[in-house]
Amino acid sequence: MRITLNRRSYSRIEGEKVQNVFKPVGIYQGLKKLISPKWKARIFYLRGLPRDKTTRIQNRIKGRFPIPPRDLIFLVAGHHNATSFLQGGATASQAIRDTLEKNSIYIEGLHAILDFGCGVGRIMRHWNTLRGPALYGTDYNPTLIGWCQENLTFAEFQVNTLSGRLPYPSSTFDFIYVFSVFTHLSEPLQFHWIEELSRVLRPGGYLYFTTHGEYYFSKLALELQEQLRNGQMVILRAEQAGTNHCAVFHPERYVREKLVKNLVMVDFIPSGAKGDSQHDVYLVKKPPVSQLVR
Ligand SMILES: C[S@@+](CC[C@H](N)C(=O)[O-])C[C@H]1O[C@@H](n2cnc3c(N)ncnc32)[C@H](O)[C@@H]1O
Repeated sequence: MRITLNRRSYSRIEGEKVQNVFKPVGIYQGLKKLISPKWKARIFYLRGLPRDKTTRIQNRIKGRFPIPPRDLIFLVAGHHNATSFLQGGATASQAIRDTLEKNSIYIEGLHAILDFGCGVGRIMRHWNTLRGPALYGTDYNPTLIGWCQENLTFAEFQVNTLSGRLPYPSSTFDFIYVFSVFTHLSEPLQFHWIEELSRVLRPGGYLYFTTHGEYYFSKLALELQEQLRNGQMVILRAEQAGTNHCAVFHPERYVREKLVKNLVMVDFIPSGAKGDSQHDVYLVKKPPVSQLVR
């Protein structure tokens, strides 16, 4: 029997959704089964090389900022592909701009913007023509920051520690965005960073961050889905917090009632992050001075 399922098909097996469950079709599929996952990854990597090279050459000819090496792209995006890296960053930066404009905030009118957990500048590089705000990026990975400092010279980059303070005075920024970082932090680290980011945010300033929301829940085991339905956060491999191996899933209720309870919720957009992902988007505001609890 020949069953055709497209690449995104899922099948339920013992209560879990498992990706890419294909029925073997013909010799090609049979051969594919004989190849180990390590070799599959290697083939996938090599197959992408010619396209990657073309994108890099086109990028150089157009005089754009350099594209990071493939291993650095992998560290932040989980793939090695230069084309997706550029497209994903462009879409993510546009989603940030759109969310702000939807709430009558215009990025050109801001004074200082921080990209927290900026990685290798996937999003930051798309602000290079922005006139107005001063641009800053931080990350706890010194290799990624070293690359940004050398190549994205229109912005300032600093290394922070996994759980320390940021190298900025209080009330420095009027906008901070955190794309796919709370998705990889343990619970104590999430609370620490909400507090520290609030410190460097000006009263009345905005914080934009993304999480794995509803879209991702169905990919988890049933008992974890139950936990999420009860408003609890799910953290896998918390001991590897800060790396992409640690995966965090946030129900909206948890974010509203616990994580940002001292901030003002301005907008929530399910699957609104775009840029390679279906992350939920939250836009919150630090209360103006008159409303701050002392
Ligand atoms: C999935 S990547 C996303 C990178 C970037 N925001 C983007 O969208 O391309 C997660 C990033 O968060 C950084 N990160 C994790 N924990 C951090 C922490 N405590 N402080 C600063 N950066 C952190 C990682 O080094 C990594 O660059």
